[in-house]
Amino acid sequence: MTSFTITPMTGHTGAEVVGLDFTKPIDGETRASLNRAFAQHHVLVMRDQHFSPDQFKVAAQVFGELKPHDKKETHVPGHPDVYYVSNDEVVNGKRVIPGETFHTDHSNHPRPPKATMLYAVELPSRGGDTQYVNMHDAYDELPAATKQKVDGLKAVHVYLSKYSPRSLGKITADSLRDVPPPGIHPLVRTHPENGRKALYLNPVRIESIVGMEDTDALALIDGLMRHSTQQHFEYRHKWRHGDWVIWDNRSVMHQANPDYDMNERRYLYRLMIQGEVPA
Ligand code: SIN
Repeated sequence: MTSFTITPMTGHTGAEVVGLDFTKPIDGETRASLNRAFAQHHVLVMRDQHFSPDQFKVAAQVFGELKPHDKKETHVPGHPDVYYVSNDEVVNGKRVIPGETFHTDHSNHPRPPKATMLYAVELPSRGGDTQYVNMHDAYDELPAATKQKVDGLKAVHVYLSKYSPRSLGKITADSLRDVPPPGIHPLVRTHPENGRKALYLNPVRIESIVGMEDTDALALIDGLMRHSTQQHFEYRHKWRHGDWVIWDNRSVMHQANPDYDMNERRYLYRLMIQGEVPA
């Protein structure tokens, strides 16, 4: 097995992986160790990587099978299955920052992605951090009465909720046609590998809770979001060149920060890994 280190970055979320070059083959033992660390720490930061789009795609598969994005058009030129996020898009005079409020990815899918990853290609000189909050700890710290209330509830996740706090930018008619029917998912899900319960929230996609009036559902989601986004649940990633960050959508929510000079470009390759039906 190759020699490398995995070092936790907070007491609850995030670990740094140093000493591996993912453009080289990764042996089975190393792969298993990385996947165990992923289920335990929820966010892994692999330092000092140098990827072409194709190398990134190969490295990603250490963590599972690739899952396509809804917005198929947002791909790296010449690489239809390597996506990106950037601060390039302006719609109606307003800049679109993908992922600007806390969410979990593609939860509108019946089988949402277990993981998402970014590889930093261009970064602003300061700012543009990604924040992660630990949804296992957020669930564990709920009062018993709230746990009893939310356990067993199901939420309807659509492509873009009419109650979403932000838009998702442009999507082509072709991509929209292939968006699957809404995902109906438990508000509390159990992680298949670490066995822990987690709140599964996404104000961008949740349009209703089954059996509840929308006003009550929105008030419940709002309260759970305020609880879950407290700072003691957070790992805040400050990007460095060479960073490859992967997060577990079953364990954390995340958000991008638009707090940097928009004359500078922020551009990261983005891939997702297939997940299972939330239970
Ligand atoms: C995202 O939500 O995937 C984007 C996160 C980021 O750009 O930091």
